[in-house]
Amino acid sequence: MPHFTSPPAPQGLASRSLQAVWHPCTQMKRALVVPPLAITHGQGPWLFDDSGRRYFDAISSWWVNLFGHADARLNAALKDQLDRLAHVMLAGCTHAPAVELAERLSALTGGVLGHCFFASDGASAVEIALKMSFHHWRNRGFPAKQEFVCLRQGYHGETLGALAVTDVAVFRDAYDPLLMRSHQVMSPDARQALPGESALDVAVRAAADLEKLLQARHGQIAAVILEPLIQCAAGMAFHDPAYLRAVRALCDQYGVHLIADEIAVGCGRTGSFFAFEQAALPGQPLIWPDLICLSKGISGGYLPLSLVLSRDSIYEAFLDDDVARGFLHSHSYTGNALACRAACEVLARFKDDDVLARNRQQAALLTAAFAPLRGDARIENFRHIGMIWAFDVREPLAGFRFAERFHLAGRARELLIRPIGRTVYVMPPYLLDETLADWLAAQVRATLDDVLNQSVTDADRSPEPPTA
Ligand SMILES: Cc1ncc(COP(=O)(O)O)c(C=O)c1O
Repeated sequence: MPHFTSPPAPQGLASRSLQAVWHPCTQMKRALVVPPLAITHGQGPWLFDDSGRRYFDAISSWWVNLFGHADARLNAALKDQLDRLAHVMLAGCTHAPAVELAERLSALTGGVLGHCFFASDGASAVEIALKMSFHHWRNRGFPAKQEFVCLRQGYHGETLGALAVTDVAVFRDAYDPLLMRSHQVMSPDARQALPGESALDVAVRAAADLEKLLQARHGQIAAVILEPLIQCAAGMAFHDPAYLRAVRALCDQYGVHLIADEIAVGCGRTGSFFAFEQAALPGQPLIWPDLICLSKGISGGYLPLSLVLSRDSIYEAFLDDDVARGFLHSHSYTGNALACRAACEVLARFKDDDVLARNRQQAALLTAAFAPLRGDARIENFRHIGMIWAFDVREPLAGFRFAERFHLAGRARELLIRPIGRTVYVMPPYLLDETLADWLAAQVRATLDDVLNQSVTDADRSPEPPTA
């Protein structure tokens, strides 16, 4: 039976990194046991470390990469942009990549969300959406609407405003005393189905929980924020799209904004460009949230870019002679020209190459390759949507530090993969062919075998919080 073995002591760049860099989402004391991979370059779905080993980027580098690393088209667009304009402030100036990107995104919503406000990271887009919603209501004469509703298990980022609407204990609890209060309602996570219940039944129960709150406090509530279709950081918790329809109807009924955080699920990850597009019943017109937050994949995974799309009725509430009634929020790199150019190239790619149709073909290959795992008695809740696959390892089998052990075992099998708790998932770049799909499914299965056959030493028996 293989024993859990720590990787060799960090050397070279990894060692220097541990001396100088404070890594994100990392207990730095533990980083000596799980040293960072020193990545020197990437090509397609592969990353290469400084010893020449390769790793398949099975989680698209925290869900950002769409078309692989060192993509020729994105590289060419960025090199061209670099010779024209890297950055100029977006207050008092504008530039073609920002305008073109805003126009293209608005068109993708059929013009319903007609204005685009730019930022950099996902969390800053969430801050913007919350502030916009509150300020909109104040400008419209409803200053009491100051409260936000989020879902249990929801994740919206790490800045204080975003954390206030996040319900993942490991990220939130230390800072709880600093956070504004928010309402947390039942998650529609389909895994909560009681015996005899369907995912739809869970969605109906969750919507009823939200309705109770809105009935009581809609006069104080500005917005509901949610991740459409999948609560990713919760461990790829899927829900029935009926939940989105119900929330849209409740928000209309009670005069509350609906903010869709598509930071992780947007850009084709769930099979449609925006996950929220799947809220409509088949054959019915699309329905839309009031504000959409987008980041991660929008720049192809190349540069930090986030944005908030808003309905014109929200935008118009800020138009006034009084400067203070405008939305004065800003970041220095708002609308960075390089990042916007990368995003324009991403959207052009979706159109020119029919990325969504190609993804359906790629998804069929990986789903078929995963078939032997579906019935594996060691796992439960095998699930798939679009370009995301996930399963949960049964609790008694997962054991101590499962995610860390799986990650390390994955490295030994040329995988960059990071389970969340006992949820193993893959969210690969949109570059699968039959050979890669078969290889990836086989490596995930072999890694599972390695980990579940490991004997764990006492030293490894400290608890591990579920981080992404
Ligand atoms: C749904 C969701 N919202 C917001 C964020 C925060 O984005 P960022 O890490 O770019 O600040 C994330 C990041 O994983 C996310 O998954």
